[in-house]
Amino acid sequence: MLITAEHSPQKALTKVHYQLKRAAVDKKHNFRFFSIATVNEQTAIPQNRMVVLRSFSEDWQFEFYTDQRSSKIDDIKNQPVISALFWDSSKQVQVRIEADAAAHNQDKIARNRWERVQGEAQKAYTSLIAPGTPIDDPEQAHKWPDEFVDDYFTVIKCMAFKIKILQLPGMKHLALEFGRYKKESDWKGKWTAP
Ligand SMILES: Cc1cc2nc3c(=O)[nH]c(=O)nc-3n(C[C@H](O)[C@H](O)[C@H](O)COP(=O)(O)O)c2cc1C
Repeated sequence: MLITAEHSPQKALTKVHYQLKRAAVDKKHNFRFFSIATVNEQTAIPQNRMVVLRSFSEDWQFEFYTDQRSSKIDDIKNQPVISALFWDSSKQVQVRIEADAAAHNQDKIARNRWERVQGEAQKAYTSLIAPGTPIDDPEQAHKWPDEFVDDYFTVIKCMAFKIKILQLPGMKHLALEFGRYKKESDWKGKWTAP
């Protein structure tokens, strides 16, 4: 268990924050893979998918990487917000974060992060056929250029403005909710009924 009823809401938030920062540097952390939901503007259907947490900062800014041609990019450009969902089964804690999202491609931020993506890992952002393209044979998608370039490599920067925490187990679940208006503002939050 990460959070107990004896913690203050601020202490609980600090503990969750610490774990999220750990997950960005520890490949085995259960928060490392998380789900992000975007909204497809045309269908109004939420779109969920797993991504890898690449960084998590002191001011609750976090990043993941993607291919510029993937459908989440259109969603984020139309509606620049995401909802992120983290679950740590070892600590039985769920964290939901709503955040403003911005896509960085072919700029200073993208170029800086591309230097950290080495070798085979670059294949995730350089396929010849764009993600989501209908194909007749799976092999058609397993083709890459001779040289991996960062044309499609995109960093999604997310700035949290709402956090919902749920601590299991047992029947006495614990829940908390926090919000802030701007990234410079302090988080305001309290216990909520789970
Ligand atoms: C465990 C796991 C981790 C993943 N990590 C990423 C990631 O970091 N970035 C990414 O773009 N896709 C990642 N994917 C693939 C996405 O879930 C998704 O299938 C893909 O990005 C296309 O999504 P879209 O068409 O909804 O944009 C991951 C999938 C799994 C199962």
